[in-house]
Amino acid sequence: MADTGGRTAQLSIDGKTIDLPVRDGTIGPAVIDVGKLTANGYFTYDPGFVSTASCDSAITYIDGDQGVLLHRGYPIEQLAEQSDYLELCYLLLNGELPSAAAKTTFVDTIKRHTMVHEQLVHLFRGFRRDAHPMAVMCGVTGALSAFYHDSLDITNEQHRRITAHRLIAKMPTLAAMSYKYSIGQPFMYPRNDLDYAANFLYMMFGTPCENYEPNPVIARAMDRIFLLHADHEQNASTSTVRMAGSTGANPFACIAAGIAALWGPAHGGANEAVLTMLNEIGDERHIDKFIKRAKDKDDPFRIMGFGHRVYKNYDPRAKVMQETCREVLGQLGTEDDPILRIAQRLEKIALEDDYFVEKRLYPNVDFYSGIILKAIGIPTELFTVIFATGRTPGWIAHWNEMISGPYKIGRPRQLYLGPPRRDFVPVDRR
Ligand code: CMC
Repeated sequence: MADTGGRTAQLSIDGKTIDLPVRDGTIGPAVIDVGKLTANGYFTYDPGFVSTASCDSAITYIDGDQGVLLHRGYPIEQLAEQSDYLELCYLLLNGELPSAAAKTTFVDTIKRHTMVHEQLVHLFRGFRRDAHPMAVMCGVTGALSAFYHDSLDITNEQHRRITAHRLIAKMPTLAAMSYKYSIGQPFMYPRNDLDYAANFLYMMFGTPCENYEPNPVIARAMDRIFLLHADHEQNASTSTVRMAGSTGANPFACIAAGIAALWGPAHGGANEAVLTMLNEIGDERHIDKFIKRAKDKDDPFRIMGFGHRVYKNYDPRAKVMQETCREVLGQLGTEDDPILRIAQRLEKIALEDDYFVEKRLYPNVDFYSGIILKAIGIPTELFTVIFATGRTPGWIAHWNEMISGPYKIGRPRQLYLGPPRRDFVPVDRR
């Protein structure tokens, strides 16, 4: 954190003035450090944390007005174009791009951890076949702590590193298992001769009965989907991981908490909600009706995949995703799919509509990822699981960053609006 040269903000209240230090980041808005307000008898009030920085971080930077996303300083567009998912994982975890040798070692290490403990198969069998895969993922990821006791000392850097590798390696295996279980097919063991995304497609769509060779264009698109979801600074799920981690909870439990937070339709569940909405619209002739509903203040309906808390400009990930979307649809020849046609029409209308333009509601990453995943043949219920798989390195990088430095248990306060102190009344006198 840059030196602020003693810059302070003054807060005048009830006849006294409190000096609050101002801190500058490398880039982005300065923050007013309000830590000492408590000692003066006040809390700040910021529901939804719209104006609150909860931590120092050197991992990811977002400028929502300009549509900028940097990981360790590198723009997402360059990473999407020139890098790949595992290299980005290395960057997020270690702070620098790997040398060629370090990259090879990292990729080999991840591959060595792709299998899960065989006993986990029995855990899967305890779930109903029709369980939502995110419910299964919350359960099995949390349960990993019951299988990998040998690396749970959070104060040990080597343990933290092994856990990071295990989580990145095993998430696609668990994700594919949650799918195979839901359709009653046998689980496929990972193939370490394939790269990360191709192996995921193999575990999803391969069967023991015949050869399955992943299509390289689809594997590249899958890798991009993982890459574009890898991190997004202090979003709801990452903040949840940090909050859980701040209690000293083990990392598998923290990531399970992150998965639970991601599940909601306002966050990672939006990609699934996009497809549900497109199916509900059903026909291009109905789009106007849905746009009208989205604008109606008395109707809770929103166009899923539009809008973002931070981006008030085009989400840079959505731009890359849009290109990938065109590539995949071209390769698969599915441009004529009625649902995909509705999506393209909806995008055009919403981008030109005054309501969306004035409120700066642009398509976000989930709008296009949902369309690509549908075209690839990934079932809708699995979309958020894919998001969780891609986001895992970000969650671990943030957890690790917090645990490696000084940190406090996350403990917000509140504005109490309940009854003041009163005496208990025995039941026969009420
Ligand atoms: N459709 C119609 N109106 C919308 C939409 C939408 N998708 N999103 C926001 N608005 C309106 C909202 O009604 C409000 O209007 P008003 O000012 O008149 O009350 C205004 O825009 C601001 O919305 P907000 O809810 O105060 O904004 P927020 O920053 O709290 O919410 C959001 C951001 C992403 C939750 C919201 O835009 C939304 O619900 N979008 C749809 C769900 C979605 O696509 N989520 C994925 C986010 S990207 C992936 C991720 O990072 O998880």
